[in-house]
Amino acid sequence: MKILVVGGGGREHALIWKLAQDSRQPQLFCAPGNAGTAELADNLPINAEDISGLIAWARSNRPDLTVVGPEAPLCAGLVDELSQLGLRAFGPNKAAANIEGSKSFAKEVMLAAGVPTAHAEIFTDATAAVAALDSFGLPVVIKASGLAAGKGVIIATNRADAEAAIRSMLLQNVFGNAGTEILLEEFLDGEEASILALVDGHNVALLPTSQDHKRIFDNDTGPNTGGMGAYSPAPVVSDDMLPTIRDTIILPVVAELAKRGITYKGVLYAGLMVTKTGIKVLEFNARFGDPETQAIMPRLEGDIIPVFEACINGTLNTVKLSVSPNPAVTVVLSAKGYPGSYEKGLPINGLNDAAAFDNVTIFHSGTARRDNRIISVGGRVLAVSASGPDLSTAVADAYAAIAAISLEGSHYRRDIAARAINRIK
Ligand code: AMP
Ligand code: GLY
Repeated sequence: MKILVVGGGGREHALIWKLAQDSRQPQLFCAPGNAGTAELADNLPINAEDISGLIAWARSNRPDLTVVGPEAPLCAGLVDELSQLGLRAFGPNKAAANIEGSKSFAKEVMLAAGVPTAHAEIFTDATAAVAALDSFGLPVVIKASGLAAGKGVIIATNRADAEAAIRSMLLQNVFGNAGTEILLEEFLDGEEASILALVDGHNVALLPTSQDHKRIFDNDTGPNTGGMGAYSPAPVVSDDMLPTIRDTIILPVVAELAKRGITYKGVLYAGLMVTKTGIKVLEFNARFGDPETQAIMPRLEGDIIPVFEACINGTLNTVKLSVSPNPAVTVVLSAKGYPGSYEKGLPINGLNDAAAFDNVTIFHSGTARRDNRIISVGGRVLAVSASGPDLSTAVADAYAAIAAISLEGSHYRRDIAARAINRIK
């Protein structure tokens, strides 16, 4: 069985790592992959956004399954094009992926489906948006509607910053087409959690809960990043909240899309804020989270290929997901300067020592092999994951392993999962 995984980050390494353990022993390909995926798969020199390159490869190589990691190829219609070739792919089609590709569409679907979310208004005109600021109070959230690689959300704590954010998006086009439409949104106070659900068109199955750490520095300070670490499960979401999340958030959105002729298949990721007045949706993503996947995959037991196939076939109701009770944590090592412009091409040492720790897996993100050395090529370079009988043990092991790795100027947060450990205490 041939499987293509599209993408080249830590999420894709974690997916490849899980697929490589499947009893069907698939032949794995990763486009473009990284130095970590190269250990388990054939890396293809095709970028995840190069739809015509991916389609050309798929046409000649006929993979039995394609698993799409990032949002860009999903929103560009990769799954639709593969389907037209008669090829099976895990992930939503273009119309369904628009739940992530357009925040204004997502908001409209949520309102129609009665899903709890922050109050928002949509604007294309800067003067009108500025005029509306008074009705939102402060802080206020300004969001580019389109895909902005995780950078399109600004939380303004004063009026001048709010106006500057509106003008930067609508007049100076800092996010290009992604920011020609914006949302002003009510600020929600609370603790965030990620709920990833498998969806087969109508049935849904929640994956284990997780929590990301979006800011670059400890105690949630500094600028937003793609995610500096994660752990699973997230105790802020208690087990008794899960049926409510499924029945009031995930299922109504899938049903609302279906009503519009849009069949959602793949992972539907709800970014939630647990507020004093209940759970509200911040955003939807049309894919697995990064780095949440690096904390979730180590907890899934059994084969993953049947799960992906059930999503494609519409038979998710026949699959029983088996999840280890042991928590998992992942700590991201980032390059000097990230999330601003960062250094690349530096050697990474100590990877074997780090991987030698029991219950630790090193997932590569921005790495490449050059002349028998592993070098950094991205902002988020590695994700060090550990599982253990309890969260504190997993955290201690992840930090012991990451300390064995050296990359000049690199950074990692020291407080991944600290909030959960406090909550459990
Ligand atoms: P999003 O891409 O919409 O998830 O936004 C990125 C991050 O911005 C979220 O993970 C939150 O930390 C923050 N954020 C987004 N919307 C809001 C909101 N309405 N209130 C508070 N924080 C928000
Ligand atoms: N960890 C956030 C995301 O994948 O969007």
